[in-house]
Amino acid sequence: MSTEREPIGVIGTGYVGLVTAAGFAELGSEVWCVDIDAEKIARLQQGEVPIYEPGLKEMLAKSAGRLHFSTDLVGALEHARLLFVAVGTPPTHSGDADLSAVHAVVDAIPASDRHALVMKSTVPCGTGASIQRVFGEQGKVGLRYVSCPEFLKEGSAVKDFLHPDRVVVGDNGDWAGDAVIELYAPLQAPLLRTDIASAEMIKLAANAFLATKISFINEIANVCEEVGADVVEVAQGMGSDARIGPKFLQAGLGYGGSCFTKDVSALKLLAGNSGYHFQLLNAVIEVNELQKRRVVSKLQKHLGELAGKRVALLGLAFKPHTDDMRGASSLVLAARLEAEGAHVRAFDPIAEVQARKLMEQLDYAPGALEAVADADAVVLVTEWPEFIELDWRQVAEAMRGTLVIDGRNALDADAVHAAGLVYEGIGRGRGPEARSSEPGGQAFMSEESA
Ligand SMILES: NC(=O)c1ccc[n+]([C@@H]2O[C@H](COP(=O)([O-])OP(=O)(O)OC[C@H]3O[C@@H](n4cnc5c(N)ncnc54)[C@H](O)[C@@H]3O)[C@@H](O)[C@H]2O)c1
Repeated sequence: MSTEREPIGVIGTGYVGLVTAAGFAELGSEVWCVDIDAEKIARLQQGEVPIYEPGLKEMLAKSAGRLHFSTDLVGALEHARLLFVAVGTPPTHSGDADLSAVHAVVDAIPASDRHALVMKSTVPCGTGASIQRVFGEQGKVGLRYVSCPEFLKEGSAVKDFLHPDRVVVGDNGDWAGDAVIELYAPLQAPLLRTDIASAEMIKLAANAFLATKISFINEIANVCEEVGADVVEVAQGMGSDARIGPKFLQAGLGYGGSCFTKDVSALKLLAGNSGYHFQLLNAVIEVNELQKRRVVSKLQKHLGELAGKRVALLGLAFKPHTDDMRGASSLVLAARLEAEGAHVRAFDPIAEVQARKLMEQLDYAPGALEAVADADAVVLVTEWPEFIELDWRQVAEAMRGTLVIDGRNALDADAVHAAGLVYEGIGRGRGPEARSSEPGGQAFMSEESA
């Protein structure tokens, strides 16, 4: 690997910042990482990785000599002319993107003819234009601006960095855009160079479309339950159409995470603030909120009143292979169950530390079998591989009830049923049950799941 790669600065050492830093360091750049969180920086300086992301620890360790961590933004400017901004842009109370961290960075950069700000944070369309206006007002006209939206997925972020589906660079056609393209060149990914507003819009539109796909299949699942079809088979049939594709057609408890929820809302409000009513996104958001709550009605259907019932939640993170609890369906589910008077006992292989920060009161079990002990019902919330591989006979022995709700349609329904348990997925209609009660098949329906 060449040692003459462009050095870079990365502002914000969260999921995106750390992966970006580790990735470019692996490609040979010296990387100057900056965060306002002094404790986080101290841990990173000690070689600790504050978040869980598969492969990230190893990638950071491999390039440790090229990675520098500090709280000094201006210091980073001495070493790097490109500053990748990866600070958080959480939703405000109104649902718009909170750009205060982005603006803190904008204000902190001194005037320069040599530096450029490369926006990795997801920001509303128009942010680049307004930041360049601010640069002008602050007498910092020499600063360049590039939009380089990030598409990595938590849980496979390292792989996504190294093998992106595409790299989008939105710029004004100057040296900064060229330099960003040069940095990504070794990845040999398809490149899309656009104007800044289009790059910003690509990111928001991509996330809103994926969220729409999820809400769509969840609505199909809910109809499947009414009409006796199996959404897993329906999705398979739909997804094998090349125009549709199989991804993001898994019905379940709805989308979570920090990005979809806030980006869909930010796009809806961006449209609204610009005078356009984005009707479709209202439905996408509402369907997702209702979907998280449907499990409660499923539990009530089988167990009646939930007061005094014991419910085990398997998984808390918003998806497997991450410890990120932002927007996790488990937050809504646990709160609703507790409000109904149920006792909730939960286990997550990785996310417990993060979960405790948001749900201190929850009863945390040290393992899956401990979580299901004496439970009236088990709900699969996050499809961690270890839950998929559970021995359902052991689960059945440990439980006091028999109900298993598969909130991700990820379990082997036959194995659950063979253990003497009652299986209910999302939108499975009468699919697997009907088949197994056909002549020659094993009866699957129990009174409880009828
Ligand atoms: N997490 C994802 O999967 C993902 C994927 C694509 C895009 N994004 C976008 O990337 C951005 C970052 O997301 P994230 O998940 O990495 O956030 P994060 O919360 O994990 O990390 C943000 C980091 O920025 C730091 N920070 C805040 N203000 C700062 C400042 N003024 N100076 C320096 N550091 C500062 C915080 O201390 C924190 O460490 C967001 O806009 C998000 O929408 C996230």
